[in-house]
Amino acid sequence: MAPTVTSVDASEPKVASIKTLADSDALTYVPSEYAYTMDPNDKGDENDPEHSIPIIDFALLTSASPDERAQMIQKIGKACEEWGFFQVINHGVPESLMKEMIDACRRFFELPEEEKKEFQTRNLLDPIKCGTSFNVAIDKVRLWRDYLKVIAHPEFNSLYKPAGYSEVSLEFSKRTHAVATEILNGISESLGLEADYIAKAMNWDRGLQILAANYYPACPQPDLAIGIPPHTDHGLVTLLIQNDMCGLEVKHNDQWVLVKAAPGAFVVNVGDQMQILTNDKYKSVWHRATVNNTATRISIAVPHGPALDTPALPISELLEKEGEKAKYIGMTYEKFMELQASPAAYMMPCLDHLRVKDN
Ligand code: OGA
Ligand code: NI
Repeated sequence: MAPTVTSVDASEPKVASIKTLADSDALTYVPSEYAYTMDPNDKGDENDPEHSIPIIDFALLTSASPDERAQMIQKIGKACEEWGFFQVINHGVPESLMKEMIDACRRFFELPEEEKKEFQTRNLLDPIKCGTSFNVAIDKVRLWRDYLKVIAHPEFNSLYKPAGYSEVSLEFSKRTHAVATEILNGISESLGLEADYIAKAMNWDRGLQILAANYYPACPQPDLAIGIPPHTDHGLVTLLIQNDMCGLEVKHNDQWVLVKAAPGAFVVNVGDQMQILTNDKYKSVWHRATVNNTATRISIAVPHGPALDTPALPISELLEKEGEKAKYIGMTYEKFMELQASPAAYMMPCLDHLRVKDN
């Protein structure tokens, strides 16, 4: 049955998923509740080679040669200061596993709507939840995406359907977590700290890992809709993979830059908790997901954060070294996430709520 799209102000979506809407043959335009105005001059430039995110070679980062490691640590530090984003190659996670993970998520999104209903919960920290847009109760504009979010650490959760999801996601979660740990340690060293300093301070062994899959179907008018509007990520580091479609854009020197990652690379970005720890040295950079009119894009963002009960505070050793005062007050990661998801902070820079005044 073709979905009907008529009124614009009901708080429940007219369709359960953007997939259902996009699959309807009749859809040749973006319905008004999805209409998002993007400045055509403010788009990521695909062809500017100077504008691509730095590349970190994981094999060198974990090399037995201190020189090679030092070189990569320095490169990570520079990438975190200048971009807040980088891509990681040679990380050892098989590309086939990434593809299987993307495929398992695709099969989830393709389940009949009825079969996804049991996972459509509203609570922020529910171990498994799926839905459409961002939060349909407070969205002013509907987003052109469906999502599936599964908490995989400190406790592993999984879905019993589609077949295979559980096994693949367990392996993907473990391998991705191991890469994230090395990256976190590299970031810690790039700040002149012990490699495990941040992990210890943030109770990383109990830290949160979410497997957050995004499904962006082809859109008939891609300039009039948005997958995810500009935002920053809440955690310490996010690792992202995608199918062969681009769409992620990063704000760099006041310009949107389209991220073109090498096949099989992880796109990594620094989150809000890291910006707090480093007292603004490493920025949690604005990014967004655009949509296209050719094929479905699937991405899996994997945010890694502190333990839920752990507040991030500017690291005192760094403050002393830089002769700075702390720019942020502490807040547990759980409270921070609640704040970020609240209507008051909707897609706003949440860090501003924690900033010390007159600093
Ligand atoms: C996210 C995100 C970007 C993408 O899920 O937080 O920024 O390219 N996703 O899907
Ligand atoms: Ni994000």
